[in-house]
Amino acid sequence: MARTAASPLQRQAVSKPSLDEQRAIWREAFADVRAETERRASHLTAEDQIVQSMADASPTKWHRAHVTWFFEQFLVVPNVPSYTTFDQRFPFLFNSYYVAAGPRHARPQRGLITRPNGTDVAAYRAHVDAAVMRLIETVPADGAAQVFSVLEIGLHHEQQHQELLLTDILHAFAQNPTDPAYDPQWQPPAPTQGPRGFVDVPSGIHPVGHDGADYCFDNETPRHDELVPPMRIARHLVSNAEWLEFIEAGGYATPSLWLSDGWAVAQAEGWQAPGYWRQKDGAWHAMTLAGLKPVDWAAPVLHVSYYEADAFARFAGKHLPSEAEWEVAARANVSADAFGIAWQWTRSAYLPYPGYRAAEGALGEYNGKFMVNQMVLRGSSLATPAGHERVSYRNFFYPPARWQFSGVRLAEFS
Ligand SMILES: [Fe+2]
Repeated sequence: MARTAASPLQRQAVSKPSLDEQRAIWREAFADVRAETERRASHLTAEDQIVQSMADASPTKWHRAHVTWFFEQFLVVPNVPSYTTFDQRFPFLFNSYYVAAGPRHARPQRGLITRPNGTDVAAYRAHVDAAVMRLIETVPADGAAQVFSVLEIGLHHEQQHQELLLTDILHAFAQNPTDPAYDPQWQPPAPTQGPRGFVDVPSGIHPVGHDGADYCFDNETPRHDELVPPMRIARHLVSNAEWLEFIEAGGYATPSLWLSDGWAVAQAEGWQAPGYWRQKDGAWHAMTLAGLKPVDWAAPVLHVSYYEADAFARFAGKHLPSEAEWEVAARANVSADAFGIAWQWTRSAYLPYPGYRAAEGALGEYNGKFMVNQMVLRGSSLATPAGHERVSYRNFFYPPARWQFSGVRLAEFS
């Protein structure tokens, strides 16, 4: 995944452009993000794009349509009275979880929707693209800030689905005995070389959360103080070689290493290794975006759940960092590979920051209503689109989830 130094989304934040310049910037940003979704989908056949391999994963075709519905529902319909909805049935099919936006199709059954077909979804995208471009071009000055604000949310939302598009199709391909490659040319990112070990994190009271004028999701605010105790954080992500030590030492068969809930899931699911690892010809292989490959022992471990990350930390005699500790370390630039390889589980529950309130209306459902029973991951992964990552970014998943590109960074306390 090529990374650009500054996306139009980022450039918007660093200057004070005129309205015409803003229109141009948003046109370019919108076109770029929409094209990236199609670029990612272009590796897949029509059949690939229909499949839903589990309730948590969605078909590629659904992702392409859902992000389009988001713009139609929250940007075009409220701001363009003359707009004609592309298809009256689509809001029901492609609303994800916005209760305030109306009823919706059952999530686990998204893979049953063979029609509308891929051509229909492409036409839907083109219809909404044209409407959004017209709106960017014609919105009057007194409405521009509000329109561009919702447009910006829609672009960051689509980028989130670009990552899910890859994690979801990888999960589907991992169920296929022929081990399909999403992209045979895909190469994993190279981890930073250099001495391993642990490095001091500045202790004391530190501000945590988003600062600055660039975009953030509401869950990254309000910025607030957190206490970081004397501690050290691992320079590097936990490697596959280190994970193999855990396996060979019986880590998956030692209940004292595991949280009770984690042990129950590991037993029920028969976990013996990270997600997508399997033995072939007497050697460990892993399913990747390039198909089934021998495990690269120097590479960071991927596709481990919170439960596994926590058990590994106990096995290593270490801990997972809290999200505040992770952020302070990342801001101090002491942790290598904070971004671009693996989301890193923290020991922090996904909770509102002090004083957080979700926005009014349907868009207030974006983050706030999920703030229970999930754990925070920090950083970004190899599937995160260019320009989407931030030091204050809070990703979150349920503790058993391991189909994301999730890995581990350890911490130790003095
Ligand atoms: Fe969504």
